[in-house]
Amino acid sequence: MSRIRFSDFERIVFFTGAGMSAESGIPTYRGKGGIWAEYDYEDYACQRAFDRDPERVWDFHDRRRAAVRACEPNDGHRVVTAVQERRPGTLVVTQNIDGMHQRAGAAVTAELHGSLWRVRCDADEIVRDDDTVPMTPRKCSCGGYWRPDIVWFEDSLDHRVVCRAREALEACDLLVSIGTSAVVYPAAELPRIAVQRGAVTVEINLEDTPLSHLYQHRLRGKASDVLAELNR
Ligand code: OAD
Repeated sequence: MSRIRFSDFERIVFFTGAGMSAESGIPTYRGKGGIWAEYDYEDYACQRAFDRDPERVWDFHDRRRAAVRACEPNDGHRVVTAVQERRPGTLVVTQNIDGMHQRAGAAVTAELHGSLWRVRCDADEIVRDDDTVPMTPRKCSCGGYWRPDIVWFEDSLDHRVVCRAREALEACDLLVSIGTSAVVYPAAELPRIAVQRGAVTVEINLEDTPLSHLYQHRLRGKASDVLAELNR
């Protein structure tokens, strides 16, 4: 284990992916048991699928809402929150749409891929929080379907959210990437900003990723175990 300690840093950025929530029982996307091994994104997670069959896409997202609702934040989420409470310069940038950091009491600076718990009507240009399970009603008062406010495949990221993430990474003295396969761009390359700015960099994952070489410290193990060690 490295000699890194959170207590030696003031402006920490936690950059999280699905592995952060795996110990809560929420499936990751890739690998064995991953969501994209079971579901084809072209049927469930792109604008074309939604335009073709919004009911089918909503059925999928309602199953995800129910599954996430049944899970609880894990010890790893709680460490992130505790670090943020102790060191107010700590920011969370996440690719996760599950809202688990927030449920664990953390403030999230950037949800790069949107949220399972927000919906929007593109015709009326409305975005709103919605925590109903199943999401009800599926249609806006304008007659069109509410759409999950999620960055699906082939969508662009919200540039305001990316700006907040970039600013966080530019200013951090410690970057801790947790549980991401680092294959989904442009999110995957954002940690490079912290590397270029000279931050100390840590990657926590069960295994190597295509971007592991960027990190000074590559810590292998479950997120909750490694985070507990760094927090001692
Ligand atoms: P992936 O499913 O691609 O990768 C999960 C990563 O977490 C893998 O590298 C695992 O080795 C690691 N992992 C699993 N369990 C872990 C644990 N307990 N502790 C530490 N690491 C663990 O998930 P993401 O990289 O987040 O997009 O995927 C990126 C994006 O692809 C997601 O945001 C999602 C998906 O399509 C949207 O939801 C829009």
